[in-house]
Amino acid sequence: MSRWSSLLIATIPAALIAQFATSDWVSERQFWPTQTRYPRSLYVGEAMCAKCHRDIVGTAESTPMAHAAMKAAQSDVLRSHPNFGFTHDDYRYEIRTGLGKSTYTVTNGASRGTATIEWAFGSHGAQSWLYKKDGEFHEARVTYFQDFDRLDFTPNRALQTLHGVDEAMDREVGRAEVYKCFACHTTESGTGESFDESQLVPGVKCEACHGPGQAHRDRMEGNAGQKGTSAVQVNTSSGIFNPKKLTPEQSVDFCGACHGSYWDINLNSVSDGVSKVRFEPYRLEQSKCWNKNDGRLTCIACHDPHKPLDKNASDYDHVCLSCHFTTATADSPTRSLHAKTICLVAKENCTTCHMPKVYVPAAYRSFPDHRIRIAKEGEAFPD
Ligand code: HEC
Ligand code: HEC
Ligand code: HEC
Ligand code: HEC
Ligand code: HEC
Ligand code: HEC
Ligand code: HEC
Repeated sequence: MSRWSSLLIATIPAALIAQFATSDWVSERQFWPTQTRYPRSLYVGEAMCAKCHRDIVGTAESTPMAHAAMKAAQSDVLRSHPNFGFTHDDYRYEIRTGLGKSTYTVTNGASRGTATIEWAFGSHGAQSWLYKKDGEFHEARVTYFQDFDRLDFTPNRALQTLHGVDEAMDREVGRAEVYKCFACHTTESGTGESFDESQLVPGVKCEACHGPGQAHRDRMEGNAGQKGTSAVQVNTSSGIFNPKKLTPEQSVDFCGACHGSYWDINLNSVSDGVSKVRFEPYRLEQSKCWNKNDGRLTCIACHDPHKPLDKNASDYDHVCLSCHFTTATADSPTRSLHAKTICLVAKENCTTCHMPKVYVPAAYRSFPDHRIRIAKEGEAFPD
């Protein structure tokens, strides 16, 4: 695929290629995750979905995605660490939490900077924080790392030399960038093209993936609502977006809206080397196993977005074996044998060897590589 893609870039007009990048899906009329164009009045909220889809709401609530961002006062990390910090050169970094307020302080003897944390991003693995100064968002230069249970510099934001408290403390996040943080980590952050953090719903909730639910609620409750132009264009007649109806390639792009689709990463050199392992859609589509017309290897073939991540390796075997099977079974004698190959080494826990965990120094932890392959001991990361 990658050889073809560089060829395509050279020969096909940008507009055609761009069709596949998230920025282009988002500008389509049809709903797509991270779109921010709908007025808040069209959203009905998770509690409404729960009236009719109680089981799904119940399991979804315990996923990290549903808690991908929160107000500082709701952060368990901050609450359970009433006072944590570290020292780097002459600089002391500290966060103190009490009475529902978290204060971030950086001192270097000569001067002192302080801010009240407003937003916490990341519910597992790591958490980082945003706040406003003079109306502009800033990102603290420190992050909490769960594996080490400690505060340290934010990956890629550490400075070689610190020039004063202001610089040591944070980085100003431009508006365009901050809106994107919220579009991926929260729901209803945009209200008809304008950003509104005061009313948004923290976390990736139902309507972040299915679109605003008003028309669907009205139809399911039996009052069809106004006919004609529905404000949200969806792919069902029940008034809500159903990702199940996407083609395999689109389905992976769908998760890629936030996790980094093949074209998002290919067209923007977001990061180099091992950090790319974090973009699962991009990695998956580079596997020899990947086929854009084959629904047996989409994200949702392995993951139920409404449930917490399954950590039991053998639960994934059936997905691999749906293609890498040995003989045609009696009930499907003509089942197409996509993958010629079967494994002579093992018959179970396929992902433990073929989706090796790759350590990402910038994140201080390992991530499973979704580029399925024969991984060799000591090999360089296949970029
Ligand atoms: C009043 C009850 C009710 C509410 C409220 C409701 N749903 Fe549904 N939903 C249903 C029913 C019933 C179906 C099955 C419809 C069908 O098969 O035609 C359905 C189907 C769906 C589908 C599949 C649609 C399709 O046509 O393929 C999705 C996705 C969905 N609901 C998501 C949601 C979300 C998200 C919310 C909250 C924003 C929500 N629903 C609120 C009753 C409801
Ligand atoms: C609107 C943005 C968005 C979309 C769309 C999205 N995700 Fe996520 N997802 C996130 C964010 C943000 C996190 C990080 C949550 C955290 O740790 O705070 C995440 C985390 C995850 C995790 C890790 C859970 C864990 O326990 O480590 C899985 C698995 C996942 N997503 C699967 C999917 C799949 C499958 C799809 C497509 C059906 C999808 N996501 C679509 C934003 C999104
Ligand atoms: C394009 C969508 C997108 C944007 C924009 C985005 N994030 Fe994320 N973020 C994600 C996803 C998806 C994950 C989960 C990655 C995974 O677990 O593989 C994540 C994970 C995180 C984590 C947890 C890291 C970890 O190691 O588990 C933090 C903290 C975070 N994001 C903060 C931010 C902040 C702050 C911004 C803005 C400056 C931002 N994100 C912008 C999609 C996004
Ligand atoms: C991260 C994205 C994401 C989030 C968040 C999410 N869903 Fe889904 N939902 C999907 C995908 C993808 C499918 C298709 C799953 C499949 O085909 O297996 C789906 C399918 C469904 C369906 C079934 C449609 C069918 O045809 O069987 C319903 C109902 C539904 N979701 C309701 C909800 C509700 C309610 C919530 C909030 C608690 C929610 N979803 C949150 C991505 C998401
Ligand atoms: C063939 C099965 C398979 C497919 C397909 C698949 N995954 Fe995974 N995924 C896994 C396994 C296995 C893990 C590791 C589970 C564990 O930690 O034990 C994982 C972990 C993850 C994580 C958590 C990473 C971390 O440690 O923070 C995210 C996020 C994720 N997958 C997203 C996706 C997305 C998005 C897609 C679609 C591009 C996808 N996955 C497709 C098997 C799969
Ligand atoms: C949609 C069908 C499909 C699924 C699902 C699938 N594969 Fe594959 N896989 C293929 C195809 C096709 C090839 C290429 C075979 C060839 O080149 O002869 C392949 C190749 C491989 C290879 C050899 C790669 C190399 O570097 O030479 C390994 C290893 C592999 N698959 C393991 C897995 C594992 C493990 C899973 C589950 C996590 C899986 N596959 C899921 C279709 C699939
Ligand atoms: C203990 C590690 C391990 C496990 C578990 C494992 N494999 Fe493998 N697999 C390997 C190694 C190593 C090779 C390369 C063998 C060689 O080249 O001689 C391989 C080769 C393969 C190949 C390529 C075969 C070929 O002829 O090119 C496929 C496909 C494959 N495995 C699929 C799977 C599937 C599906 C599972 C789960 C049912 C699985 N593997 C479980 C280690 C493993």
